[in-house]
Amino acid sequence: MAHASELMPYHFNPSENMSEEDKESVYKRVITELKALLLGETDVILKMCSINCLLKSNLTHYYWVGFYCVNDGKLTVGPYQGTLGCLHIDFKKGVCGAVADSKITKIVKQVHDLSQGDEHIACDPNSQSEIVVPVFNQDKKLIAVFDVDSSLPNSFDEIDQRYLEQIMSLFFSESKLSQTQLVI
Ligand code: SME
Repeated sequence: MAHASELMPYHFNPSENMSEEDKESVYKRVITELKALLLGETDVILKMCSINCLLKSNLTHYYWVGFYCVNDGKLTVGPYQGTLGCLHIDFKKGVCGAVADSKITKIVKQVHDLSQGDEHIACDPNSQSEIVVPVFNQDKKLIAVFDVDSSLPNSFDEIDQRYLEQIMSLFFSESKLSQTQLVI
């Protein structure tokens, strides 16, 4: 049987893992660009699309990136970039559902070590590692989870968690981004 990555749609590049130094500098640059882009913006969908675009364009280990939004106590797929994402996910199901339930970031070094359909939902067989971050609004209410897959194992670490939690806080949990928050 052909290895999953050989079946990867040709227009989605496989992941390339990044050094800690490169991750640090790229995340800092992307946050600066997002602050300039989203100053004064209040539209949640606009901010989700922009965050997906700038992160996926700059971080080579990102294969699938997107938001699952909370609707009536379930998760439904929101803005994303990558192969077809699952449309609906129940709380507690998969990595996304587990994070929606716990409200705590989860990093998975190898998703194929998890029980499929329960601990992990495989929207794409090429996904091997994953990070999922909770997204809270200004009232600290969970509105979504932010999901990133890599086609390589062990792509995500504390650096990804730190910067992604900072991004979700800056653009969704804090009041409208003001001029003073532009200072890096
Ligand atoms: N892997 C996720 C499902 C979303 S697809 O990866 C885009 C999960 O286990 O919840």
